[in-house]
Amino acid sequence: MTTFDTILSTISEIFQVHGTELAKLGSVVINRDLNGRVRLILEEKIQDNPAVNTIVQILADKLAPHSFPADRMVLFEPFLDEVTQNAVLFQLEGFDQVTVVDRLATESDWTTITKESTGAPRIVFFSIKGGVGRSTAMAVSAWSFAEEGKRVMVLDLDLESPGLSSSLLPEEKRPAYGVTDWLVEDLVDNTDEVFENMIGTSDLSHNGEILVVPAHGKEPGEYIAKLGRVWMPKISAEGSRESWPVRLNRLLNELEKRWKPDVILIDSRAGIDEVASACITSLGAKGIMLFSIDGNQTWSGYRILFRHWHKTGAVKEIRNRLQIVGSMIPDDENRPSYEIRLLEHSWSVFTDDLYDEIPPGQTSDEYFNFDQFDDTAPHYPWYIRWNRGFQALESMHSRLKGIDKNEVNALFGSLLKGLKTMIENEGASHV
Ligand SMILES: Nc1ncnc2c1ncn2[C@@H]1O[C@H](COP(=O)(O)OP(=O)(O)OP(=O)(O)O)[C@@H](O)[C@H]1O
Ligand SMILES: [Mg+2]
Repeated sequence: MTTFDTILSTISEIFQVHGTELAKLGSVVINRDLNGRVRLILEEKIQDNPAVNTIVQILADKLAPHSFPADRMVLFEPFLDEVTQNAVLFQLEGFDQVTVVDRLATESDWTTITKESTGAPRIVFFSIKGGVGRSTAMAVSAWSFAEEGKRVMVLDLDLESPGLSSSLLPEEKRPAYGVTDWLVEDLVDNTDEVFENMIGTSDLSHNGEILVVPAHGKEPGEYIAKLGRVWMPKISAEGSRESWPVRLNRLLNELEKRWKPDVILIDSRAGIDEVASACITSLGAKGIMLFSIDGNQTWSGYRILFRHWHKTGAVKEIRNRLQIVGSMIPDDENRPSYEIRLLEHSWSVFTDDLYDEIPPGQTSDEYFNFDQFDDTAPHYPWYIRWNRGFQALESMHSRLKGIDKNEVNALFGSLLKGLKTMIENEGASHV
């Protein structure tokens, strides 16, 4: 039986066996539609070649029910380039002439990686699991950068579960609008007033400045109705289409131009989610913090992501921006063994899907590959200690108000030091 997961391997097997016929087809596009059904798209000029029929018949039989019947399985087009425009695509492993076009019901394909932004460094805080201390670490990082005199902008993009702003802004300092309002008003070209009133300045910093862009304003308003529309692409009068992650990136660029921060911290959503995908792939991040607590759920989640990047070829564009952050590290006698396990598991996940294999006889210098104990490697965790004082806080804002530098360094020092090096470094974070 063919299931969704065996579609590509079945196609590969058929192409291997029928290599002679395949060679006669020229460039081949495999279109996997929204229902997971496969069609071939071929160039018009080979329409009469008998090899087409042979391949189509076998594919239709072997892939069913994930295929169209043989008589409807192939489409001929004058130019294949037009078919692949604006689509998620990747090469079928082992077959240079074969491109897979994957039609998804969402905008988040996780593979279109935007180049690193050239302005203020952007750092994304992401985790597979929720509740791992991501937002807390981000608030503390903002505080720490501001203590050094930096102008920090923080964005709450955890739109479905907003909360970061409340840890950094007291009630009376919250702005009238937030990211959600901008994304909705942008659809009707009505962002001027929202744009000027979507920033609150935190009172936590004495030296620099913390500019907070919340998910919603002081009054959430019709939040659910707005949230249901933020994902909309914008279609211009001329008919061009701008996907919502691209709109979000435009917002970030405009905010950066208007407020001139030194660094931008972005609180993404947890999990393999649409907003998280936008934060990780579309905002030109310099660093992507992968918050992790040791456990199956964390590692199997990262494996899914890493494999997808590997398979689709996006891996090379993204891997040097990644950094594991070990959060909630136990503060008792279990700490050393916990840290060893975390490092081992992290290394194994990176080695399997993100790092290059070094061919025998070659040196590691030319490859993206790190030793398990190399503390500059992306898999080598930056640590955050679990601390009773941070647990189940009613008000993070009042907790941060009274915090001192030594306490922050004892708990978050490893993360803060790493971030500082990362944002002060020109170019990619791991090379
Ligand atoms: N270092 C820490 N030690 C102990 N408790 C912590 C620490 N950091 C955060 N917490 C507590 O853990 C809980 C979750 O923290 P936080 O909201 O920062 O996590 P999150 O990963 O952003 O969660 P979510 O996915 O829900 O947004 C909170 O109650 C917070 O006070
Ligand atoms: Mg959070």
